Amino acid sequence: MRKLLVMSNKGGVGKTTVAVNLSLLLSEENPTGLLDIDLHGPDAPRLLGLQKTEIKTQKHKLVPVKFNPNLYVMSLDFLIDKNRAVMWRGPLKTKAIQQLINDVLWPELDFLVIDLPPGTGDELITIMQMMRNSGSIIVSTSQAVSVEDAKRVINMSRSFDIPIIGLIENMSGEIFGSGKVEELAEKENIAFLGRLSLDKTVSNSLETGKPFILNKGTKSAKEFENITKNIKKMIKGAMD
Ligand SMILES: Nc1ncnc2c1ncn2[C@@H]1O[C@H](COP(=O)(O)OP(=O)(O)OP(=O)(O)O)[C@@H](O)[C@H]1O
Ligand SMILES: [Mg+2]
Repeated sequence: MRKLLVMSNKGGVGKTTVAVNLSLLLSEENPTGLLDIDLHGPDAPRLLGLQKTEIKTQKHKLVPVKFNPNLYVMSLDFLIDKNRAVMWRGPLKTKAIQQLINDVLWPELDFLVIDLPPGTGDELITIMQMMRNSGSIIVSTSQAVSVEDAKRVINMSRSFDIPIIGLIENMSGEIFGSGKVEELAEKENIAFLGRLSLDKTVSNSLETGKPFILNKGTKSAKEFENITKNIKKMIKGAMD
């Protein structure tokens, strides 16, 4: 099984969007899991319209939710009381992370896509220490602040010996610009996986609970299909 960590240092650049749509596309050909470990905003289920799902346990392990015959989902969102604000303190936080990483009854999978919280702090360090044998996919916009943050995640990934599959430029276009992520990839000698434009079809998914990738033929879907194709190609070189 290939574990793919979707990362960025800056918040709100599109990790969850990438993780959800990537797992869906991969599941068209391979058994795939989606694991959402964002303790502060576990919102992958919302993008799939799964936010009210109750989950079962089996022999003290968590049973993932089957989204389609080839895609299984586990999220912290399934484990928490929806009406309460979550305030995780250190040890509890680590325990929740450990449970999500170790105690899920995944079926045989080819890919496990992992949606991570933003930042490079303690939480991320805990996760990365437990996630050896994975590869990272780094998401950034073309804005200078985001590119700077992406650089820190590159360094972090390297310091944990997690191979970098490549960089994605999200929200490309007039507002946040375009081109800086590819420049960074070249400078750092990392693969550039492609661009996803800033587009309403992408942001609408959050409202409708229908991932944009399912609207085949749209510009956004085509851009993301290209990114996924590149990820599959690069996994071989980066992770073998
Ligand atoms: N290419 C895009 N075009 C338009 N809207 C986008 C695009 N990518 C992401 N968004 C929107 O931007 C917001 C943030 O995206 P997302 O939740 O995927 O980011 P994130 O990095 O996971 O955030 P966080 O750090 O809070 O976990 C969402 O409302 C999402 O719909
Ligand atoms: Mg997110």
